[in-house]
Amino acid sequence: MSSRSPQPAFHIVTFGCQMNKLDAELLAAALARSGYRQVAEPEQADVLIYATCSVRDHAENRVLSHLGAWRARAGRDPHFVLGVVGCMAQRMGQEIVRRFPHVRLVCGTRAFLRVPGHLDRIAATGEAVVDVGEEDFAFKRDPGLRSERHHAYVSIMRGCDNYCAYCIVPYVRGPEVSRPPGEVLDEVRRLCDDGVVEVTLLGQNVNSYGKGLGGPPYGGLAGLLELLNDVPGLKRLRFVTSHPRDMSEEILQAVARLDKACEHLHVPPQSGSDSVLKRMRRGYDRTRYLELVRRARHIIPAVELSGDFLVGFPGETEADFEQSLSLLREVRFQQSFIFKYSPRPGTLAARRPDDVPEAAKRERNQRMLDAQAQVDEQRRGAMVGRVVEVLVDGANPAGAGGRRLSGRTRGGDIVFFSDPAVADPEAAGRMAGELCRVRLTGATPLTLFGERCD
Ligand code: 5AD
Ligand code: SF4
Repeated sequence: MSSRSPQPAFHIVTFGCQMNKLDAELLAAALARSGYRQVAEPEQADVLIYATCSVRDHAENRVLSHLGAWRARAGRDPHFVLGVVGCMAQRMGQEIVRRFPHVRLVCGTRAFLRVPGHLDRIAATGEAVVDVGEEDFAFKRDPGLRSERHHAYVSIMRGCDNYCAYCIVPYVRGPEVSRPPGEVLDEVRRLCDDGVVEVTLLGQNVNSYGKGLGGPPYGGLAGLLELLNDVPGLKRLRFVTSHPRDMSEEILQAVARLDKACEHLHVPPQSGSDSVLKRMRRGYDRTRYLELVRRARHIIPAVELSGDFLVGFPGETEADFEQSLSLLREVRFQQSFIFKYSPRPGTLAARRPDDVPEAAKRERNQRMLDAQAQVDEQRRGAMVGRVVEVLVDGANPAGAGGRRLSGRTRGGDIVFFSDPAVADPEAAGRMAGELCRVRLTGATPLTLFGERCD
């Protein structure tokens, strides 16, 4: 097996959430450090890795069908290594290799940084490696290796202790572990020294950041935001995902007070029905959720809220569903992600019959999307005429009407806008990472248009 090329090529195909994307980035960095080179096409790779998600059945099935499609290549090429990392690897472990004997590497959510060592072993022995170990995770990352120039995700905690009835995350990502603030600060500093201007702090439940770190002087998420707000070069700070139950007064006050903390909170309600929320074990009811919305809007007047909703949870009646629909309209979310419930093995909800028919799930999903589209139209329409702060992402791919620049507001809305000094896409690209004042002149349901005015 020693005849593999001196600098084997790798490619990672990523499914799922931001956390998974960050893990894939960290894995890519680890492979690059170990002498592998990244290639753009899976076909060119000697090592092809799937970074997988288990949150819904659909995401898992897609990966399984991809794995099946590589059987012929694996049969032809003894040096080809097909691997699976992430949540599905953690959940299924050995079963993946049983079903797909041409998969040579399975590495769980807390083990993926050991992939380079495992690849050496596979090359030496030709045997498959399955590692779903649960040791502590090393958060270390190389700031230079990231997928975007001006923005970076930074993991501040991993795992989740909540055990919401439908959710597989606590089983595949393990218990909550927070990263010490000094380490987060150091990483953010190094990223900003290297050109990052916007950081999104990541965790399954960032509001309970700090649990297990020993209390003050850590000060939870609010204290961490305070610490990061002073990092030179940093222009914007975001965090996801927040649990509505744990959104403290201190966090809201910190977002209101700190100039870099963006006025945008991702606070998934999941449902608007008290009986469904109770069975989901979310730890709040509709009234408490709406209280949080009122408090957030009082303390942070410009705040935008986004959320996730699950439709078709076991036992969800039409009346329950209408409560979700009315909550979405009442809160006027900046963005809503709607998911059809999918039973996950081992979760509490999976013990109940999945009794909402697929057709009803599909119909409810569509009604939620339609309601959000109406909210989008009204919300963005009402923003026309305002002057907003936009962080430039780069050139607007369409560039219609001279609006060559694309960027985002602090609330998370995409804006395409013109700037008399920017005459071509190259000039637009050079503006990436800059903050501009933009007067909003028009809107479609998903996009805002404007012109630079500073
Ligand atoms: N089925 C469908 N959607 C789910 N989510 C979590 N578990 C499931 C499931 N079993 C959704 C939730 C969560 C988002 C990341 O995925 O809405 O907030
Ligand atoms: Fe899953 Fe609930 Fe934890 Fe979110 S808070 S990851 S929905 S168990």
